[in-house]
Amino acid sequence: MGEGRNLVGVDIGTSSIKVCQIRELKRAPSLVRFGFSPLPPQTIVDGQVMDAGAVVEVLQRVFHDARIRQKEVALSVSGQSVIIRKITVPIMTAAELDEQIHWEAEQHIPFDIKDVQVDYQVLRRRPEASQMDLLLVAAKRDQINDYAQLARDAKLRPIICDIDAFTVQNLFEATRGLPPEQTVAIINVGASLSSLNIISNGISAFTREIANGGNVITEEIQKQLNIPFEQAEAYKCGGSSTDDATRPGMVPQQVVAVIEAVTDSIAAEIQRSLDFFMATSGENEIANIHVTGGTANLVALAQAIERRARVPVSAWAPTEGVAVERDVDTTLLQRRAAQLPVALGLALRKERETRSS
Ligand SMILES: Nc1ncnc2c1ncn2[C@@H]1O[C@H](COP(=O)(O)OP(=O)(O)OP(=O)(O)O)[C@@H](O)[C@H]1O
Ligand SMILES: [Mg+2]
Repeated sequence: MGEGRNLVGVDIGTSSIKVCQIRELKRAPSLVRFGFSPLPPQTIVDGQVMDAGAVVEVLQRVFHDARIRQKEVALSVSGQSVIIRKITVPIMTAAELDEQIHWEAEQHIPFDIKDVQVDYQVLRRRPEASQMDLLLVAAKRDQINDYAQLARDAKLRPIICDIDAFTVQNLFEATRGLPPEQTVAIINVGASLSSLNIISNGISAFTREIANGGNVITEEIQKQLNIPFEQAEAYKCGGSSTDDATRPGMVPQQVVAVIEAVTDSIAAEIQRSLDFFMATSGENEIANIHVTGGTANLVALAQAIERRARVPVSAWAPTEGVAVERDVDTTLLQRRAAQLPVALGLALRKERETRSS
């Protein structure tokens, strides 16, 4: 919950920067401005920023080109520096919990507690057992600080730092609604990461990140065909060699085989997480799986997950349910729609947050 103006959502992904500015008219989100720019390969590797200067430059250019003047932004982090755990603690008041949370976190977080920013959400109070369930979130301060510094260097004012998976869930809830009595999974497959969030009765019940994504496909095509990254990328996206990647063209047979093989390996890792969840949670069956992120543009991904999970899988376009205003480049938006769950989710955040726990 929050009030005041919406923040500008800034998603600094491995492959590209996405920026969205939303306003909420009668609670329905409407996209006012949108910016997208690829990052040069190796600028960010496994969530680590290798070339801060390049990120800052692209960030400034995206804001300029999209004509966004608002400086207050929401960022998010993901990957290995983020730990999410569901924990059970003795029932206590909010004030007691604020005091205790660091001690509780220390028991569950494999990092030095001094190095992490800890947050939590009360999932359920169970007075009959004198216990309560919390969702505990810890993110390394280093990564939060690094991302905030990038924003400041680009003359922006970072106000909020969220976690990719929750941002995506927030958007899904706001635009599609979460079924109250069902378990669904949202899988965001980007360039270097695939993140899985299983949501049960409207609450995140399990999250996992897998270090596999679209880059693995591109690198494998590059290796097998002995071609540059850009050309491999264009082939993967259905284009012919260095032409506009959106134009269908002749794609070598090996490309199709690599896409099949790597999407299947992503699906296999996802399946292992789904099996683990089903075996340990005692939750209902998963009713639906929604795939999003740039790599969800590959039809083979949803097919591979469906084959393994035996659950209906559909591609979720994050722009669904978001109105689009005049100044937005709709051609670019359509082409990049699958890549926007994080930036759009972040753009729903407000300048002033009110906490409910
Ligand atoms: N039309 C397309 N067909 C196939 N793959 C695509 C298409 N469009 C984008 N991709 C791939 O999607 C990936 C980028 O997706 P996305 O923007 O969601 O990731 P990211 O946020 O940059 O990375 P990460 O979340 O892993 O840090 C790239 O690997 C890109 O090649
Ligand atoms: Mg991403």
